[in-house]
Formats: sequence, structure tokens, C-alpha cells
Amino acid sequence: MCGIIAVTGEGASVEILTTGLRRLEYRGYDSAGVVVQTRSDGFARYRAAGGTKSLVALEEEAGRYHGEIISGIGHTRWATHGGPTLFNAHPHFDCLEEIAIVHNGILENFRELKEDLLAVGHVFSSETDTEVIAHLIEAQLPFSRNLAAAVAIVAKRMRGAMAFVVASAGEPGVLVGFKRMAPMVIGTDGKSWFLASDIPAILDRASTFYHIDDEHIVILKPSGAVMCDLDLHEVPLESFSVDWTLESAERSGFDDFMSKEIFEQPGALRDTLAGRMTPDGSLVLDEQPADPDLWARINKVFIVACGTSYHAGMVAKYAIEHWTKIPVELDISSEFRYRDPVVDERTLVVAVSQSGETLDTLAALHEARNLGAQTLAVCNVVGSSMARLADAVLYTRAGPEVGVAATKTHTSQIGALMMLALQLAKVKGQLYPQEVQELYRQLLSLPNKMSEVLELWEEMRALALRYGGRSRFYFIGRHVGYPVALEGALKLKEISYLPAEGYPAGELKHGAIAMLDADAVVFALATRTRLYEKVMSNIEEVRARSSSIVVLGNPGDESVVNADESFVAVPQVHPLFAPIVDVIPLQMFAYHVARGLGNDVDRPRNLAKTVTVE
Ligand code: G6P
Repeated sequence: MCGIIAVTGEGASVEILTTGLRRLEYRGYDSAGVVVQTRSDGFARYRAAGGTKSLVALEEEAGRYHGEIISGIGHTRWATHGGPTLFNAHPHFDCLEEIAIVHNGILENFRELKEDLLAVGHVFSSETDTEVIAHLIEAQLPFSRNLAAAVAIVAKRMRGAMAFVVASAGEPGVLVGFKRMAPMVIGTDGKSWFLASDIPAILDRASTFYHIDDEHIVILKPSGAVMCDLDLHEVPLESFSVDWTLESAERSGFDDFMSKEIFEQPGALRDTLAGRMTPDGSLVLDEQPADPDLWARINKVFIVACGTSYHAGMVAKYAIEHWTKIPVELDISSEFRYRDPVVDERTLVVAVSQSGETLDTLAALHEARNLGAQTLAVCNVVGSSMARLADAVLYTRAGPEVGVAATKTHTSQIGALMMLALQLAKVKGQLYPQEVQELYRQLLSLPNKMSEVLELWEEMRALALRYGGRSRFYFIGRHVGYPVALEGALKLKEISYLPAEGYPAGELKHGAIAMLDADAVVFALATRTRLYEKVMSNIEEVRARSSSIVVLGNPGDESVVNADESFVAVPQVHPLFAPIVDVIPLQMFAYHVARGLGNDVDRPRNLAKTVTVE
């Protein structure tokens, strides 16, 4: 959903901006642009629009700039207001080209604000909501002490979740950022100061990172950074440490991030699980709730998430209900707050999110807090908005995930949620500490099983070659196989753009079976989980409709397929942990089909990794 980077200070360069944008490209790539500023010559702007080629063009153009810059701002765009054209590309200017802005999010009341500005003669050169902010600041600046004071006033008039950074030709080297429910962090190496939508953008430059509070502005100068509320009262900056390495944010010899991240899954799960259980079977959280007795009071769990994270939440529902007997509700975040969810102070609302910034999930978490619920964030990005908002935090330690289609964070999320289930079961007296320990031990054995599954890479490539030309794909499963089926279909849709549906196998006969014919391919999740035999019957129903069948099963069960069908063998694990290994071949199948079609798997069309608009 758009990526922002900004730099001021001694080391500022065009290269810092374009390298940062490359690492933020997963947030959108409709266009890319930078504005750089020298001490005396004002702004120079470079922009390019053309999908994934935008940044290459920008690097070439802006790379020719040789002025001595003091600061700069950069942007990679995922279009919301106005098409993905050059004139809508950020940075945007005011009328006099003395204010430059990059923006992520949506200015919801942009129409009325724009009308006011048009009425007093402002001239716009784009269709974006962003440009409205530049003109608002232009109008306010003559009545304010400086850029920061003007931004603080303008921010109060704006509605919507967003983060932006502005520069003024009149104040060389000064950058002012504003944050409201959209990601943005401060970083520094002591010589330069940075603002970025995400940590990897400045991972190779900054050694210290600082949070920015919502509804606050930050003023960056070559000499340092200051955070203020909108009445310009200074608020101390709070630093946080980041243990991600630069290598973890690079492709490191792989063709793309997605394949690298698929192969990183055993390590990601291992790190997520390591050292999480005390000898008495208690879960070690990253942020403990203020009230340690909270767990005992919980009588309902509500999981909110979007996309792939939602599928991890679905798996968790089976495990929590099985082990704890506590009812679990599950909701798509964008639905949660608009449907009067039944939540009270004995409900634990768990927000599951790779980024910790997805606006729908963040808003659901806010709603849960307003309703008095206890809240837990399960996310991958340290210091993200959800982590800062929730009462308790459990981080997946998967390292940075760059590919838009989530892989390693998904399996790590399931691992983290399984530990939560065990913790609740222990507190509720449903499992003895020894039983919790035994299940934790089984979880710890999963990374080795995942490594075995990764050996299916070539086999899945062959299957992709065999079936990739088909027009429709169905993924069926029951019990925990159902969320795996949904995730298999989602992965295929996201990167291959082929029609794919995930279905509860038992429900097929109530409608979707009408779609089955010889052109359809049906993937059946048939590892030895709870409803294995029933899935077998569902496979027979498919067989009778002459669709192609691929069965994902455990070794020894190969005979369940006929000679013209395919069998993919994955190791057998505890039935509730099966999704962690079973999903991997489906990720690989989607990957190979998409690559076979010549698609950019890291940057699929129309998608962004972190969606910070509603
Ligand atoms: C976007 C991404 C998905 C992701 C979803 C939730 O739609 O394209 O891959 O699953 O957001 O993201 P989150 O960061 O909250 O897990």
C-alpha cells in the first residue's frame, strides 16, 4: 500500500532513496518517484510509471543527478485515488512547487478539502488525494511559524489512516512526517536520519530505530529527530532494537523472494518456537499482559485476521477448541467491527498479522479494546502498530518476508497459535504440564519434517508442468485440511491469476461439484488427520466426475490413487499440526505454475503485501 522513504543529513543520497524503494516495492509498484533537495538549489523531482519497470526507470533517471543533496523523499505507489499514471506518481507538489510530499494511506475527506482549495484558486496537477495535503500545507504555511507547525494544523483537518512526509523548499534539510494508523519508523546511523514505511528499507543504513506514535508528527533535521503531538508538545522518542540481518532482507542467490521464503520455513518455525515454553508448560510471550491472571478468566477466544493470516487463525480454532474446550470465534477483520461482535472483558481477541499494520486488523483490534476485551497480537514485525496496541504480544520470528504471497510467516503463525492453544489448555486445566511439554516437543520436531517436504520442489515443478495449463483448480479438505485447502487456492490465485477455490470436502456435493469436469484439477488434502476416511469418500465423488485428482497424503497411502492420478507424499505428524507441513507442497505448486506462466511471483498484479487502506 505505497512505500515511503526519506533521508536527511550528511550521508543523504539518491541511492539511499532508490535502494530503500527497492526494498519497499512489495508495498506497491504502480509508479516510483523521488524529490531531492540541496541547500541552495531547491527541489529536483524524478518520477516513473510503468508497473514493475517503474523503479528501474527511476534508478536510471535519478541516478544521473549529481548535486550535493541534503535531504530527499521517495515513494513507491499502489494506486488508490487516480490511475497508475506518471502525473499521479508521488512525490506531489503544491502550486508553487515549494512543498513536496510522499503519502501512504487515504485522505478520506479529500473531496471537500479539495473543493475549498479550488475555490481559492489552487491548481492541481494530479487526481490524487495526496496532492490535496501539499496544497493544504501551502495554504497554511504563511500563517504558521514553520513547516512542522503548518503540518500539525493541517493534520487535524484530515480524516483517514495515513502516513506522509513533507519537505519545504524554504527549510532545506527539514523533513516533517505524520503518522495515523499507518506504518512509519525513524532510523539513524548517527550521521543521517531516516523515515521509512518498513524496517528493511533502511536496514543497511540505520543502527537505531525509534517508534512514531499515532497522531504525532516527527521533525527530522540533519542534527536529529523530535516527535511532537499535534499541539507541538515534545514527546520523548522510544528506541527499539531490530535483530533482522540485511541478508535476511535480500534474495541471497534465490531467483526471487518467494522461493527463498518457502525454503526458509523450517528455520522460521524453529526460531518462532525456540525457548517459548517454561518447564511447567507456560508460554513465554514477548509482551506479557499487565494482569498475569488474565488467562484464567478467558472464557472465549475471538481471532481476527485477513488473507493468509486468517487461514492460520482458522487452523488455530480447531486446536484451541480441541484442547481447551473454550469456544473460538473467527472473523475476517474487515467484517468484525461492523457486525456487533459479542465480546467482553473475558474474551481474548487475537489479532493475527504478518505486518502488524493491516488496517482492517488494526481497526478490529481497536474495536476489541473499545469493547473491553483482552487483546493479543501475533505478528512478525517488531514494534508494529498492532504489537504496540495489544495487551500482550507473541512474535513470529520468521524474519522479513518480502514476497507478497505469504509463506514462511503463515507456517510460523500456525506454530505460534498452537503454543497459545497449549498455554490456554494448561491454564484451564485441560492438559497436564507434561502433556503440554510432550506436544511442544512434537512442535519442535516439525522443522525437520518441513525440510523433508522441501525436497518435493522438483516433484511439484513436474506437477505444475502437467496441470498448469488447466483452467480451474479446486482444493478440498476437511477439519484442519479445510484451511489448508483455502490457503492452497489463495496462493494459486494470488500469483498465477488462475481460478482456484478452496472447499470443505464434505460441502462439495452441495454445489461446487456441478463445476467439476475433465478440465478441472482437484487437490485433495488427505493426510491422516481426523476425517481421513471421509475425505477418501469425497475423493470418490470427484473421481466419478472425471476431474484430474492430486492427493496429498502420508507415505504408505500411495495406493489410494489410480494410475492416471497423482500422489504427493508428506510426512505424517500430529493431526492438528498437519497444516504446517501439508501447506508447503501447495505453496510450491502455486510458485511453479506462476513461474511457468512467466508471472512475477514476488510482485503479483493488483496486490500489495501490507494493505493499509480499508
Ligand atoms: C495482503 C497480502 C496477503 C496477506 C494479507 C494480510 O492482502 O497480500 O498476503 O495475507 O494482506 O496481511 P497481514 O500482514 O495482516 O498478515
